[in-house]
Amino acid sequence: MIPTDLDNLRIVCYPDPILREKAEPVTEFDENLKAFVEHMYELMKTGEGVGLAAPQVGISARLFVLNPTGEPEDRKVYINPEFIGTNGVAEREEGCLSLPGINVMMRRARVARLRAQDVEGNTFEESGEDLLARIWQHENDHLNGRLIIDNMSAADELANRKAIKQLKVDYAHSR
Ligand code: CO
Repeated sequence: MIPTDLDNLRIVCYPDPILREKAEPVTEFDENLKAFVEHMYELMKTGEGVGLAAPQVGISARLFVLNPTGEPEDRKVYINPEFIGTNGVAEREEGCLSLPGINVMMRRARVARLRAQDVEGNTFEESGEDLLARIWQHENDHLNGRLIIDNMSAADELANRKAIKQLKVDYAHSR
């Protein structure tokens, strides 16, 4: 499930079908998983993203990494995450490394509590609000095959129509 050859990993873009799959639970907490997570950190940094989920690098695994500040000490991995509570509503524009050039106004819970495992397999719980809670919800959507373009307003649909069409053309040409 987690590949041993990491050199060919790259960020995949919509409409790659891996982005629509429900990702598989992570069961092996070994050196290979650690190497994969390190690779995810690098790809997130290169892409200048605040979060990256395994399906976005073509791997069906329930894990995501994030770094809301860009500082190396603030990066973190969440493996087999599960929401155990959400509260409030907040609306803000979101982008996605798998949907370059696209921005969508997203309604999210403002506060969330998450249970996940770290790279050693230890379970932990964390509460977050605002940007952190938003990144969790965005990345967790990736693990369930959901993307920010799934419930666009008419205005967002119009604003993003050309970029979405272009991504489909690029994808067809890359095959
Ligand atoms: Co995304």
